[in-house]
Amino acid sequence: MAGLVIANWKMHGSLGLIEEFSREWQLLPPLSEVSVVLCPPAPYLGAVSNAFEDVALGAQNCADQVEGAFTGEISVQMLSELGCSYVIIGHSERRALYSETDAQVAVKAALVIAQGLHAVVCVGETLEHRDAGQQDKIVIEQLLGSLAQVPCENLVVAYEPVWAIGTGRTATPAQADAMHGVIRSCLCEHFGEVGAGIPIIYGGSVKPENASVLFECDNIDGSLVGGASLNANSFWQIASAASAGRA
Ligand code: 13P
Repeated sequence: MAGLVIANWKMHGSLGLIEEFSREWQLLPPLSEVSVVLCPPAPYLGAVSNAFEDVALGAQNCADQVEGAFTGEISVQMLSELGCSYVIIGHSERRALYSETDAQVAVKAALVIAQGLHAVVCVGETLEHRDAGQQDKIVIEQLLGSLAQVPCENLVVAYEPVWAIGTGRTATPAQADAMHGVIRSCLCEHFGEVGAGIPIIYGGSVKPENASVLFECDNIDGSLVGGASLNANSFWQIASAASAGRA
C-alpha cells in the first residue's frame, strides 16, 4: 500500500502560517506513492482547503452525535461538507485531557466511516504501562474497545505511545515495528483477512532525522506527525521518506 502521512497541527497555527506553509510547499517537488493529509484546527479547514491542491484535508476530532443541541461540537457531516476526508479520533490528548473513552471513540469512528470519510483511530500506552511490560495488553484492549461495531472500510489505526508524543523520545524502530505487528494480528483476528490491508501508522516525535528508519520497517505504513508538521520543509521531508520507503 502507498504510504500515508498525516499532519496533526493540534491547537497550533494561524492564517499566516497557512499562507507561509502553502507558499513553501508549492516550491517543493511533488510526491508520489504517499498520501498526504493536513489536519489543521477546525476554524482553518476552509483556508487549508483553499490553499492546497495536492493534499487531503482532515479534522482532529468530531462530535459523537449526528446533530442537535450540542454547543461547541462539530458533526462529521459538517466536516465532510468542508472537504475533510479524514478525521483523527481518540488522540491520547483527547483521551487524557477530555476523558474520551474507548466507547466514545468507537461511536465517533463509526459515524466517520458511515459518512464515507477515513477514521484515524489512535491507540497507545503510557510510560508506566510500558515499564510494567503491559504495552501489548493495554493497546489490544484499547483497540478492541475503540473498534466495537466499527467497520473496517476506510479505517486507519495510529499507534502513538504516549511517552513519545512531544517528548523528543521516539519509539525505536524495533519497538514501533513490534507493536504494529501486534496491532496487525489483532486487526486480522477481529476483521478476518481484510485486517491485513488496514494502514497502521506511527506517531510520536517523528522528524526528518528519524523518519527513514521508521519507514523501512515492514509493519509501518506511514506516520501521524505533530510538531514537525508545522513546517512545510520538515513535513515534506517526512512525507518524502515515506514515499521512498514504499518505492
Ligand atoms: P509529536 O510529533 O509532536 O510528538 O506529536 C505526535 C502526535 O501526537 C501526533 O498526533
